[in-house]
Amino acid sequence: MSDGSTVNILGIAGSLRRGSFNAATLRAAQDLVPSGMTIEAFDIAPIPAYNEDVRQQGFPAPVEELRSRIKAADGLLIVTPEYNYSIPGVLKNAVDWASRPPEQPFDGKPIGIMGASGGALGTARAQYHLRQCFIFLNGHVMNRPEVMIPQAQNKFDADGKLTDQQTRDFVAAHLAAFKAWVLRLK
Ligand SMILES: Cc1cc2nc3c(=O)[nH]c(=O)nc-3n(C[C@H](O)[C@H](O)[C@H](O)COP(=O)(O)O)c2cc1C
Repeated sequence: MSDGSTVNILGIAGSLRRGSFNAATLRAAQDLVPSGMTIEAFDIAPIPAYNEDVRQQGFPAPVEELRSRIKAADGLLIVTPEYNYSIPGVLKNAVDWASRPPEQPFDGKPIGIMGASGGALGTARAQYHLRQCFIFLNGHVMNRPEVMIPQAQNKFDADGKLTDQQTRDFVAAHLAAFKAWVLRLK
């Protein structure tokens, strides 16, 4: 947790793809943060597939790191793709690992969700499934403004920069509201 003057957010992109639009959206969010807010990205690629037998031997190092980084952060920003109308397996796997006892780190944590997809609904279905997980885990997901980026292939340049101005404005508005949400829940 920060000293109260700065809001420190942990950002997770739910895609491992090098050219991921969601990782690119997270980078755009890092550019668009309001003053007094930081977003550090956490890479979920090293997290192994969930196995309860492994957990009983102790959390693998990347999971331990994820859990402690979530605990230390003032809030969590998840930028998720939509796979088959739902949460991508790699992201759900990371949430599942982090959620295991003791002291699961989502409890009471302010959470923002964004997403970018090639489809028309901009990850709406994946986002609502993710929200459902955080009901059980007692994460405090901000309701609005939502950021659902449809037809992502038209909104980023070849270097993965978010170029669509309206989308940049949506991301910036979400971040400003999320900062207020985090401070309200402190
Ligand atoms: C297994 C799989 C399932 C997908 N299902 C959906 C879907 O349900 N809805 C959608 O809008 N796009 C879907 N897509 C397309 C993704 O939106 C697109 O691949 C997007 O670029 C993934 O995010 P990323 O760029 O961050 O990797 C799917 C892609 C994959 C690989």
